[in-house]
Amino acid sequence: MTTVDLAFRDVVIPGRAPDYKGKVRDLYALDGRLILVATDRVSAYDVILSKGIPGKGRVLTQISRFWFEKLRDRVRSHYLTTDVSRYPEPFASHRAILDGRSMLVERANRFDVECVVRGYLAGSGWKEYQATGKVCGVPLPPGLQLSSPLPEPIFTPATKASEGHDENIDFDQMVSIVGGETAERLRALSLEIYRAAAAHVASCGLILADTKFEFGERDGEIIWIDEALSPDSSRYWPMDGYRVGESQESFDKQVIRDYLDSIRWDRNPPPPRLPEAVIEKAARRYEEALGRITGAGPTR
Ligand SMILES: Nc1ncnc2c1ncn2[C@@H]1O[C@H](COP(=O)(O)OP(=O)(O)OP(=O)(O)O)[C@@H](O)[C@H]1O
Ligand SMILES: [Mg+2]
Repeated sequence: MTTVDLAFRDVVIPGRAPDYKGKVRDLYALDGRLILVATDRVSAYDVILSKGIPGKGRVLTQISRFWFEKLRDRVRSHYLTTDVSRYPEPFASHRAILDGRSMLVERANRFDVECVVRGYLAGSGWKEYQATGKVCGVPLPPGLQLSSPLPEPIFTPATKASEGHDENIDFDQMVSIVGGETAERLRALSLEIYRAAAAHVASCGLILADTKFEFGERDGEIIWIDEALSPDSSRYWPMDGYRVGESQESFDKQVIRDYLDSIRWDRNPPPPRLPEAVIEKAARRYEEALGRITGAGPTR
């Protein structure tokens, strides 16, 4: 068996099928709560690849837990525990499978918008800026380059498409989806979390270029759900090596996207098999992200 075969693409709880299988996570619904299980699946360009990245699910779960705990006094989140012995049965009996990669959370009614905050120009924001000088309706000064810092962090929501790519929308479109008052609160909360997290990671030598949040409603309150500032939902860049005008080496699945681009995959399924070296490199990047952000050691 090679290292890549150690990935948990499918996490199986005997006798209990997931209630929802996302691209990366499996959800089990309990009474008013959920168990979120982060597998080692990896998707690129919205297609799930045939091999997983060993340790990725653990890394993502540990990073989310770190942020939910660190920012708990500022924002109520769905996070309850990652201690498997406190889960209800049959889950508590499957510690070996679930430990480190699962989380018991409060279930919420999700707002169907992605709450994106950008402090730097990258990805779809950079493309939109080049075409229009704006990002999601927010006008930006002329002359910005790829990876430029923005004058201040901006809130750039997107739809949560159940199929295919999320689409950037402007604030008014968000208001028509969730209502004005909620839209204002989600924007304020998103910017607050971004600023706090960016300040923390700056002290670890990282730039938080952008990130996306999900929120839901529970007991009449807005709560922060889904994942928290993980490398799958955020762009973290090492400060050393940061250059305006260039794309940055990020701690996410960029390694994988670069490989897929290099072989000119047309982004239609079935996806190509990743070489072992690419999988290994991606696994190391995820581990490194965990270490840099939380100060934790390796997880595998
Ligand atoms: N506390 C919560 N209450 C309700 N739903 C939640 C909660 N936390 C996360 N979710 C939802 O659980 C799912 C997690 O699965 P995952 O992110 O792997 O799926 P996905 O394929 O990315 O799907 P999506 O496009 O819906 O995010 C998401 O749909 C997310 O919105
Ligand atoms: Mg998701």
